[in-house]
Amino acid sequence: MNKNTKTTLTDCFILANGVKIPCIGYGTWQTPSDGTTEKCVKTAIEKGYRHIDTAFAYGNEAEVGEGVRASGVARGDLFITTKHWVTERGYEKTLAAIDTSLKLLGLDYIDLYLVHWPCVAKCSPDWKQINAETWRGFETAMKAGKLRAIGVSNYQQKHIEALWETCEIRPMVNQIEFHPGYTQYDNVRWSQENGMLVEAWSPLGSGAVLKDATLAAIAAKYNKSVAQLCVRFALQCGVLPLPKSTNPDRIASNAEVFDFVISDGDMQAIFDMPTLGFSTYLPEDAPADALANQ
Ligand code: A2P
Repeated sequence: MNKNTKTTLTDCFILANGVKIPCIGYGTWQTPSDGTTEKCVKTAIEKGYRHIDTAFAYGNEAEVGEGVRASGVARGDLFITTKHWVTERGYEKTLAAIDTSLKLLGLDYIDLYLVHWPCVAKCSPDWKQINAETWRGFETAMKAGKLRAIGVSNYQQKHIEALWETCEIRPMVNQIEFHPGYTQYDNVRWSQENGMLVEAWSPLGSGAVLKDATLAAIAAKYNKSVAQLCVRFALQCGVLPLPKSTNPDRIASNAEVFDFVISDGDMQAIFDMPTLGFSTYLPEDAPADALANQ
């Protein structure tokens, strides 16, 4: 399987509303706000990334904004994603949360804004309505020009279908955990078939898959690192990877994935791997406070 058509970091996927999104994003989950995030974001942009992924819950939006400005690259040439946190659900709170993120980032608009986690039945019997009201805030802010595109994260088919019952604008993106050893491929396929771009958080399994012998043997065939294999695996599934590293050399090398193609046999071998590196975060099982640092 090779759904990849991208050949550089500036090549883009096109969202349902025509907005272009650079094909690999630099992830910032767990990157601290002690100057590290600013430095890493600037480095990533210098190394050629044009897409940065953050979230209100990561506590580093302000430093992402600083890194963007320090890079000297024009705002219009960059794509910035951030996410709405679970404590801010509901229409009015969502509108305020968007303004807070804009202020923290120091930006006039956000390229892509995502619902970080769905409200689920276990959290509230009114979960559908709560998600619908949050989403209405997204639609209002998008119409006001504050958001160029909107989507969800960690949603499963039932959460998205529930949103469709009331929404005016359908989610354009579903960002989920995706890496060798945990692909959630039914969700990937269904989301892609229903007009959403799937993005991969923890495309390297948060580092947990990097020592796996099967992956090491496959990566060696192509003279690539396991991290590069993982990033390329996502692209060949038509999934947008969001690798993260705080090491400048790894930031660069993680995006050097356009000079090899994983064979169909090796793609299948990766799909056939047992579960590995799964975060254990599931929208239906985890109480909201267990996700607080996610
Ligand atoms: P570091 O910041 O020291 O590079 P994921 O993106 O799946 O969440 O994985 C991120 C983790 O993988 C981080 O701990 C990061 O550590 C590590 N990592 C990122 N790139 C590489 C790489 N090329 N080789 C080894 N470890 C990596």
